[in-house]
Amino acid sequence: KKPTITVIGSMNMDLVTIAKRMPLQGETVLGEMFRLIPGGKGANQAVAAARLGADVHMIGAVGADAFGTELLQHLKREGIFVDGVKPVTDIETGIATIVISEGDNRIIVVPGANHALCPDDLERWEEKIAKSDVCLLQLEIPLSVVERAVLIAKRHAVRVILNPAPAQPLPDMLLDQVDVLTPNEHERDIVLAGRAIEKWVHKFIVTEGKRGVSFQRNGEWIRISGFHVPVVDTTGAGDTFNGALAVALSKGMALEEACGYANAAAALSVTKLGAQTGMPTKKELESFLAEKG
Ligand code: RIB
Ligand code: NA
Repeated sequence: KKPTITVIGSMNMDLVTIAKRMPLQGETVLGEMFRLIPGGKGANQAVAAARLGADVHMIGAVGADAFGTELLQHLKREGIFVDGVKPVTDIETGIATIVISEGDNRIIVVPGANHALCPDDLERWEEKIAKSDVCLLQLEIPLSVVERAVLIAKRHAVRVILNPAPAQPLPDMLLDQVDVLTPNEHERDIVLAGRAIEKWVHKFIVTEGKRGVSFQRNGEWIRISGFHVPVVDTTGAGDTFNGALAVALSKGMALEEACGYANAAAALSVTKLGAQTGMPTKKELESFLAEKG
């Protein structure tokens, strides 16, 4: 059976500029290249899961502008069910200004329409959410929407994965209710905001970039190593990990295997420019794993 995944999250147009080096304050430098590339953590995770063979249902919001139209078309081309994407008329589509140079990236996100998504928008999709294997969430939409999503999903015993990025302190209720949290080390500390991790530690998969990911089992931290690949652009690597993890867990893989699978997907994604550009298909991922595994 195909994994069925509902992603509730952001859709952005990424304005990607590549330069030899970052400009200093007040300085202008000449860039090498500019691209418009579909992004947003929600859409990225949706695409990652769809390429790996899942039936994906996207819930989000875009503006009534050229970027919004393009983002919707793009998700449709990826075979994603987009009826849950709400068009809003008075706010622009979300964007991310991304500057890549010296193997590093800096990003400014303007949420725009993503912040016009309301908790009540989810109610008409309850049945879709209920039928999903996983409900996949991030923090580029209002926290009130994330909270309602968790409430609906758990009402139907649907597994919830929350990628807490960009990080903010999370209420106890969310930490109690979600099944899996996937912060990086920095995000983990922000999410906990001084509370001890113990009560929720079994839910955490901490991502550590190219080193891989860690989770606790029987009181001990286990690391699942990442794969070494030539890096072009790490934007969206975390999103690829999350989309692939949702697919792997939906298929019933054990955590260890699921993390290896998701690490491999993330590794492949960084070998190409753009968040979604390098995300592997099921076939590509399987042959990579066969070769490296
Ligand atoms: O995680 C990468 C994404 O973060 C980019 O696509 C950008 O849109 C920002 O939301
Ligand atoms: Na990439």
